[in-house]
Amino acid sequence: MKTLSLTPQTKVLVLTGAGVSAESGVPTFRGMDGLWEGHRVEEVASPEGFAADPQLVWRFYSLRREGALEVNPNPGHVALAKLEERLGDRYLLATQNVDGLHARAGSRRMLAIHGELFQSRCEKCAVPFADQKTYFDTLPKCETCGGAVRPHIVWFGEMLNPRHLEQVGEFIQAGGSDLHFFAIGTSGLVYPAAGFVQIARSVGAMTWLIDAAPSREFASQFDEVIVGKSGEVLPFLLGERSER
Ligand SMILES: NC(=O)c1ccc[n+]([C@@H]2O[C@H](COP(=O)([O-])OP(=O)(O)OC[C@H]3O[C@@H](n4cnc5c(N)ncnc54)[C@H](O)[C@@H]3O)[C@@H](O)[C@H]2O)c1
Ligand SMILES: [Zn+2]
Repeated sequence: MKTLSLTPQTKVLVLTGAGVSAESGVPTFRGMDGLWEGHRVEEVASPEGFAADPQLVWRFYSLRREGALEVNPNPGHVALAKLEERLGDRYLLATQNVDGLHARAGSRRMLAIHGELFQSRCEKCAVPFADQKTYFDTLPKCETCGGAVRPHIVWFGEMLNPRHLEQVGEFIQAGGSDLHFFAIGTSGLVYPAAGFVQIARSVGAMTWLIDAAPSREFASQFDEVIVGKSGEVLPFLLGERSER
């Protein structure tokens, strides 16, 4: 298998998805068959779902908070944090995961483009705050204005933070042909993240897909496709382990 050789010019943009956390024991959405306790995922992860039944939504996220506290980063998360240490500001991670495992592994130059499980925000004040609490039979209210407090998650049908997209775009433009773009453990079904590879290609970047079971259609967009588990592939690919 190839390894990534770094020059002083090399820049790396990494996009991660649910697959990176699978080996930590966090289920991917596909692994959940699109259903949670008989509810479609959209019912517990959309603004309409929250308006219809906020307690159901908070029960779902309360269970996810409990679940995420029970798991730990795996060697894939750790390998990426070590790569960031080597590259400094020539590295950027955009994660679709909300579980906080990248940060716990030491990643800092990171955009949580789909939000953060351990943050909440008032629907009116809109300022996210750290929140590890669970709400199974109560609904949190804003201390400032009394408004409804919701998970700080980008739900189905919602826009990503435009500042995050700008930062990704700027990083790709600045990287040009010195850029290596990695998509890891993401199915490539959720936009706009699924479109990053095409933007990276357009500036002459080298593109890599690492996935345990990539779809043919998504894989066809990459220069290099490595089929395998991220926790096994990444330490080797990034030169932190010499054999698989
Ligand atoms: N951990 C989390 O925070 C989490 C978990 C589930 C879903 N989500 C959200 O659900 C949406 C789903 O999109 P997505 O593309 O991230 O996930 P996805 O579930 O659509 O796809 C996961 C991908 O990971 C691959 N995979 C599974 N195990 C792997 C492993 N060990 N190593 C490498 N690849 C592996 C699968 O083949 C698949 O292509 C996102 O919006 C995300 O925010 C987040
Ligand atoms: Zn408020």
